Amino acid sequence: MKVLIATDKPFAKVAVEGIRTVVEGAGFELALLEKYTEKKQLLEAVAQVDAVIIRSDIIDAEVLEAAKSLKIVVRAGAGFDNVDLEAATKKGVCVMNTPGQNANAVAELAIGMMIYAIRNQYNGTSGTELKGKKLGIHACGNVGQNVARIATGFGMDIYGYDAYCSKEVMEKFNIKPLSSVAELYSTCDIVSLHIPATAETKNSINAAVVGLMPKGGVLVNTARKEVIDEVSLISLMEERPDLRYVTDIMPAAHATFLAKFPDRYFSTPKKMGAQTAEANINAGIAAARQIVDFLVNGNETFRVNK
Ligand code: 3PG
Repeated sequence: MKVLIATDKPFAKVAVEGIRTVVEGAGFELALLEKYTEKKQLLEAVAQVDAVIIRSDIIDAEVLEAAKSLKIVVRAGAGFDNVDLEAATKKGVCVMNTPGQNANAVAELAIGMMIYAIRNQYNGTSGTELKGKKLGIHACGNVGQNVARIATGFGMDIYGYDAYCSKEVMEKFNIKPLSSVAELYSTCDIVSLHIPATAETKNSINAAVVGLMPKGGVLVNTARKEVIDEVSLISLMEERPDLRYVTDIMPAAHATFLAKFPDRYFSTPKKMGAQTAEANINAGIAAARQIVDFLVNGNETFRVNK
């Protein structure tokens, strides 16, 4: 059996070595495709493999078609919007994620981005503090819960909205549950986004929602760029010179945001929420173990396609 790590954005070396230990320990072979620049390279690399470990790499119908022996794809991370689940199901390929494994890394970055925003991008002028501010957590899954855990230490007043998370779980993390998106944005000084990109959430964060935020509001996005209605957010930020937007996923309209709002907009050059050695080790090794357990024992825990 052959397992491929296909990562446009490579794991830390130490994580690759950890994956190698698991894969080779099971008697399988490991292949590596990193920093590829063309889809053709991915199509060639998947041709002879039984399993693939990916990050935000796109696994579409064409890739699945090229992967004649493929049995399982594991997204080492939380979001699996980069995999065509329907096409995978049609080809009989199992798709899994590794929920929670990189959540702390993303949460730490979200908090760092909040501080960067309210300290005026470290430009030397007087900013404000997290302590006492109202933090809104939009979706309270693994990342949102970690943000709440850290924000508790900062003395923040924490609120959350999540249609799928129980009141009990939210309260365990000091999150005061609110009953709607509108209530979350109108209550909170800072909102941290942790919703997945789905048909329902795409473009859902628009001027009508963000415009509810009180004066000086900060929107932090470590989730997905697709959830933002960029045109609408740009118009809102033009009307509301108090609002700030910091994101770990570069918007399609990055140049426009930067030109119009240089002091109140920031994007990382490449998504780096999960880009820590610890997160790479946790998610990468979990992915390798899940593959071995699936190929050897047929274990389908963490399967996300039906
Ligand atoms: C995730 O969904 O787990 C995060 O967005 C991390 O994505 P990455 O592996 O591309 O850094």
